[in-house]
Amino acid sequence: MSQNLSRKICILPGDGIGPEVTTSALAVLRTLELPISFSIEAGGYEHYLETGQTISPASLKRCMEADAILYGANTNPAGDSGYQSLTLLLRDSLALHGNIRPVLSFDPDSAVDLVIFRENSECLYVREEREIPDGYDATRRITRSASERIARLAFSYARENSRRQVTIVHKANVLRKTCGLFREVCFQVASEYPDIEVREELVDACVMKLFLKPSSFDVLLTTNLFGDILSDAAAALVGGLGLAPGANIGERHAMFEPVHGSAPDIAGKNLANPTACILATAMMLEHLQFKVEASRIRGALKQLIQRGATTRDLGGTLLTSEFTDELIGELRTQTVRSGSGDDQISTLR
Ligand code: IPM
Ligand code: MG
Repeated sequence: MSQNLSRKICILPGDGIGPEVTTSALAVLRTLELPISFSIEAGGYEHYLETGQTISPASLKRCMEADAILYGANTNPAGDSGYQSLTLLLRDSLALHGNIRPVLSFDPDSAVDLVIFRENSECLYVREEREIPDGYDATRRITRSASERIARLAFSYARENSRRQVTIVHKANVLRKTCGLFREVCFQVASEYPDIEVREELVDACVMKLFLKPSSFDVLLTTNLFGDILSDAAAALVGGLGLAPGANIGERHAMFEPVHGSAPDIAGKNLANPTACILATAMMLEHLQFKVEASRIRGALKQLIQRGATTRDLGGTLLTSEFTDELIGELRTQTVRSGSGDDQISTLR
């Protein structure tokens, strides 16, 4: 993709703190003055309560036509509310089969720098549950093709990004067929990447080792539910979910989101940490080939966090909007310092 081609993105603020963190990310995007146009689409649980639909067909169509989607957060009530999760609906409808979740610390004394590759389309997330006489049964689907797809994504990412090692995370000692197949396929794919060291861990031991020595992990490759749990757990190593972004990638579409949920307890109070959504925006810019801008965002966030200019979850005092203003100030200082950024055409309104 050439730098002068305009891109279209859809922003889906969603529920709870979603509108606050996407507003912040949008302010950052505007500061960068990139040739990106956008539309803001309604969707999520609150939208469902108002309209009976998770997302309208017209909004879904615009998401499908966009070069990328930036997603805020979504409330997913437990139990049988009849609501179809916006997150899951988008992952399914747009065939977003790979979930990439980097976990990187901004603390100069920490060595946490790992990336989780989570299969995004199957496992228990097929949501096939059936009544049995004394309860329910659930399907855990693991296929050769989906396992191979996520394994290739992880190993090729490792090669392209000079990562040294991939750890396959499973529970094949108990789930011999499903995890057994995932493990077998991942090792087959690994054999095509002799330059990358391959290791395996049982998921329970992996969590413990992650907490004892996170620097011994580089790329983690796992199934859907294990990846869901591991990515929240790993976020705790770097300051919590306020700092954890993710990318949902398919053959034709891509959606970028913070790993966190809608945090209803702090919603609408200007307290949310928008960093995860801004880091997701940086991943989106990288995907759209705006690599310089993506690293400018990360650099500016690092400056702020290292000098303690943070929201409350990280021990600071800044409100969401104040943090955003500080970050924009930092980005503008960078521009003055490097003299870059003034030759870009802006269609971002
Ligand atoms: C995540 C979330 C989702 C998931 C929920 C919101 C459906 O926890 O993106 O990690 O379980 O995948
Ligand atoms: Mg999760």
